[in-house]
Amino acid sequence: MIANVSSNGSIGITGIGFYVPEKVLTNDDLSRMVDTSDEWITDRTGIKERRIAAAEEAASDLALPAARKALEQAGVEGAELDLVIVATATPDMLFPATAAIVAEELGAKQAAAYDLLAGCTGFVYAVAQAFGAVAGGLSERALVIGSEALSRITNWNDRGTCILFGDGAGAAVLERVRDGGIVGIELGADGSGGLDLCVPAGGSRMPVTAANVEEDMQFIQMRGQEIFRFATRVMVSSAEQVLEKSGVGVGDVDLYVPHQANKRIIDHAAKHIGLAPDKVFMNISKYGNTSSASIPICLAEAQEQGLLKAGTRVLMSAVGAGLTWGSIYMTWSNGRAN
Ligand code: ACO
Repeated sequence: MIANVSSNGSIGITGIGFYVPEKVLTNDDLSRMVDTSDEWITDRTGIKERRIAAAEEAASDLALPAARKALEQAGVEGAELDLVIVATATPDMLFPATAAIVAEELGAKQAAAYDLLAGCTGFVYAVAQAFGAVAGGLSERALVIGSEALSRITNWNDRGTCILFGDGAGAAVLERVRDGGIVGIELGADGSGGLDLCVPAGGSRMPVTAANVEEDMQFIQMRGQEIFRFATRVMVSSAEQVLEKSGVGVGDVDLYVPHQANKRIIDHAAKHIGLAPDKVFMNISKYGNTSSASIPICLAEAQEQGLLKAGTRVLMSAVGAGLTWGSIYMTWSNGRAN
């Protein structure tokens, strides 16, 4: 789906926040666990280190500090929220939804709360859903979170995947804003490549058993080259489509915030979209691929670094399991509408 949504009035983000766990796992640490090296990982992915959740930290525990920061920046109390969406592929449990756990902790007693699964595109999908709810009058104040404890579904014996992923969370408050806001949204999915990136066991197709655990079926399985090819293609086409539908050109992008999957994918996308390197935000070297958390973590860090202010025109694009993809074009706003 693709739309210029600006006729719905100004709906934007009024607060963002992020949280990453304390424990750092470096490439050198990994080279003592599997047959790899700092040089290979840095060269092929751009990643130097990633964060790993503590044993007692689940997705909701990562989400909560990120959410509290976003709420504080927006000047919103948990009780004022009417919608909480958590994008995650690593929920605390299959159910209840991690969003319901988070909403309870935040005192969001009036909020609908549910999880959304769109792999690394989860945050973009969740922002689009919250946008639709606010535009349609169903929600006034929505909290959108991307939170992942990917270390729990990573096979630490598989050097093809364990070097890529990290844990973390990012959150955003969506509501009507004074100026700026979301202009264009493009979302898509192609299930034909779904098995190129999957966790086979743990769902209704293949419940977890001792036999399939023996075969590591509870962990991420990935055909890296297929995902790489797909990602480089759709990161470009999705961004180009959302810009065109928004009625703007590449010169109208001040800050490009791509999903942090692989530096080579990001460099390829930026080059083919026509974005200068100084417009591209990247923190993959510190956090690896945090899936649905990566874009909101980037937004929060960009803001901390003074790169994201009122009036900044932002392009976000992501690609992930599903396979899914999505882009949003928006202007950062000056705060909530009165
Ligand atoms: N250390 C050292 N060597 C390795 C490692 C490693 N960690 N992993 C693979 N190799 C070896 C392979 O065995 C292979 O050796 P061979 O030639 O002797 O067979 C060689 O390196 C090349 O392997 P490729 O798989 O071709 O390496 P490639 O350049 O494709 O890089 C990578 C692999 C980094 C996984 C890449 O394919 C990639 O980034 N794919 C995209 C995956 C992705 O981003 N997934 C994230 C989830 S979804 C999302 O966020 C979009």
